[in-house]
Amino acid sequence: MPIGWDPEARQIHLRNGTISYVIRVLENGALGHLHFGPLLSDARSYAHVGLGPFHGFTNRLDDPVALELPIAGVGDFRVPALTIEGPDGSAILDLSYVSHRIVPGKPPLAALPCTYVEAEAEADTVEIVLADAPTGTEVRLAYTVFRDLPIVTRSMVVRNGGGAALDLTCAMSASLDLSDSDWRLIQLSGTWARERHVVERPLVPGRQSVGSVRGASGYQHNPFIALRRASTTEDHGEVYGFSLVYSGNFLAEADVDAQGTTRVRMGIAPEGFRWRLDPGAELELPEAVLAYSDAGLGGLSDAYHVLYRERLARGTWRARPRPVLINNWEGTYFEFDEAKLLEMAAASRDLGVELFVLDDGWFGQRDDDTTSLGDWVVDRRKLPGGIDGLATKVEALGLRFGLWIEPEMVSERSRLFADHPDWAIGVPGRVRTEARQQLVLDMSRPEVVDHLFRALSDVLGRAAVSYVKWDMNRNITEPYSLGLPADRQGEFFHRYILGVYDLYRRLTAAFPEVLFESCASGGGRFDPGMLAFAPQTWTSDDTDAVERLRIQWGTSLVYPLSSMGAHVAAVPNHQTGRLTPLATRAAVAFFGVFGYELDPTRFSAEERQEVIDQIAFYKAHRELFQRGRFVRLRSPFEGDGDGTAWMVVSPDRRQAVVGVYQALNRPVPGPDRIRLRGLDPSAAYQVAQWPSTGDSVERANALVRGGDDLMAVGLLLAAERHAAARWGDFWARLFVLEAV
Ligand code: GLA
Repeated sequence: MPIGWDPEARQIHLRNGTISYVIRVLENGALGHLHFGPLLSDARSYAHVGLGPFHGFTNRLDDPVALELPIAGVGDFRVPALTIEGPDGSAILDLSYVSHRIVPGKPPLAALPCTYVEAEAEADTVEIVLADAPTGTEVRLAYTVFRDLPIVTRSMVVRNGGGAALDLTCAMSASLDLSDSDWRLIQLSGTWARERHVVERPLVPGRQSVGSVRGASGYQHNPFIALRRASTTEDHGEVYGFSLVYSGNFLAEADVDAQGTTRVRMGIAPEGFRWRLDPGAELELPEAVLAYSDAGLGGLSDAYHVLYRERLARGTWRARPRPVLINNWEGTYFEFDEAKLLEMAAASRDLGVELFVLDDGWFGQRDDDTTSLGDWVVDRRKLPGGIDGLATKVEALGLRFGLWIEPEMVSERSRLFADHPDWAIGVPGRVRTEARQQLVLDMSRPEVVDHLFRALSDVLGRAAVSYVKWDMNRNITEPYSLGLPADRQGEFFHRYILGVYDLYRRLTAAFPEVLFESCASGGGRFDPGMLAFAPQTWTSDDTDAVERLRIQWGTSLVYPLSSMGAHVAAVPNHQTGRLTPLATRAAVAFFGVFGYELDPTRFSAEERQEVIDQIAFYKAHRELFQRGRFVRLRSPFEGDGDGTAWMVVSPDRRQAVVGVYQALNRPVPGPDRIRLRGLDPSAAYQVAQWPSTGDSVERANALVRGGDDLMAVGLLLAAERHAAARWGDFWARLFVLEAV
């Protein structure tokens, strides 16, 4: 039984083949937390774990009690998971266990994106009901354990079962108490063009957190944290992961108390959040995805990759091979007409590209970024035949056609703004701060979402559009909705995201064959909430191969390669001015959903041939790159940061591609070896370098070698110093392994 209930011990035990999560109903009715981690046997009580003699979590400072849903003001002096102000203005709750039920499978959330199962046998769920009698507050906590993954998801619904309005000011999706604080906190942080860099620090007493209050999850911090032991590596040791299926304001926090216990909480950011629950009303909170691995960070990533690729992403494109695309943005920016686009499309087709994407600038009168957002009507000056005309011509060339949109935005210079100035977010009588010369539409208002659904359906329905890049290029200022009364303005940010999800849900349902890629100035909203609708995300506006190593490495802690858009761009790179070899740019972008972001008519004959070979190589290994197991080997965040290596292995371990990268070249290289992982130790692999360079490194590795040998000894990168002196900076090598 994957979820057991022991009435004597009043204990709920979720388990699968690798992990256990144990909850106990405490003597005062509150939910205590006993264990999340290695598998425990099911027939026992764990009431002795972690609680000591129970004192009802009064202020016995030496006796912190591990809780599932801590409330402030009742003797637990750590950060709360749930705060509700009652009619008397107090925020005291005595939430007591009422009942629970165990169900096979995983019931979906009502309005929010979430992970799912396709067969009931894939997971089991326990729903626990708690209630506070004086206020009538009812809480339904749902925990799901997946059969084959070291993962427990948790979500919550809060209902007002009383007779007076309640105000919810803090409602964390996850709250996990750990018995010590000997952990290092990992976060994925950065900014535009350097998103999701791995940042680590040891936990210290007090609160340490990341989050967002900008209306989107943001590129500053991803809605993910992990805790690892100091000794944990990529393939050994303990690590916990916390990931939130949400795209708006969030908080992820570790609070270390004086006794050295750690409370991790994650959910919608309490800052700026206040939700009014009228009698009978309920609010669903986002799903948190908790993972535990004793197989290192790699084990953690394996679990998230499988879950997010197979059971968060959905729809036609979840498992379909994703097309090799070309996007015109860096190739033309706003300066194009139909002839130019068709010339680029024809050149792309000859290279092997499968999908031509027209980026920003096709609508209204948009010759730069000062105008026309909101007017999703083709600009006939540039495209006299309309989008349908262009799409038909692109398809006639043998390519699919894709289109950029930025639904949530409006330019002040637009017809939409002239017609509906009140649809732009802002506080009447106050300045509306512009960013990139644009304002944000009030997605919390159903009429705005309805309008966008109609306008965009019109565009997508009239033309052969196979792909949509949904961009979002600024964050929210002056948060306020004319659609909400004064005492409900605290609901605005969450309602905004609900509106975004509603539009995504309606468009993806109306156009099930369209592949959606989300984007927010690159990776400004790369989160599990978005992946539930759009199976891939434009990872970063930074197309520089060296920068991408860090970005893609960090992103891969949580997100699978099938979710990471990765393109080869022209040099000098538009974000860094760096000149990297074309081969290196491809060798980095292969590890993702591959494409190009440039003007293909500008290639030399030699470059053209190289690109033809690159695309053919990617197509030949597409299944491996998009659905294989990604294994990180050498981190760009460690040592001098110049070396990176990673690989991807097929599920049957018969095929693998290894990427090895060097930023600045070093004279007199040492006898460097890259030990591989995830191969079949008893298999023999033919190792081939791609493309061939014919040099000593290629000769040293192009052998049939055992999987054990490749994992214990590794690829041999030693080179004679005069040979290595000719490699130059920013080189990459790919090794292709085939079991023989
Ligand atoms: C954002 C995106 C880019 C491009 C531009 C267009 O910056 O991230 O890829 O689409 O907008 O304005």
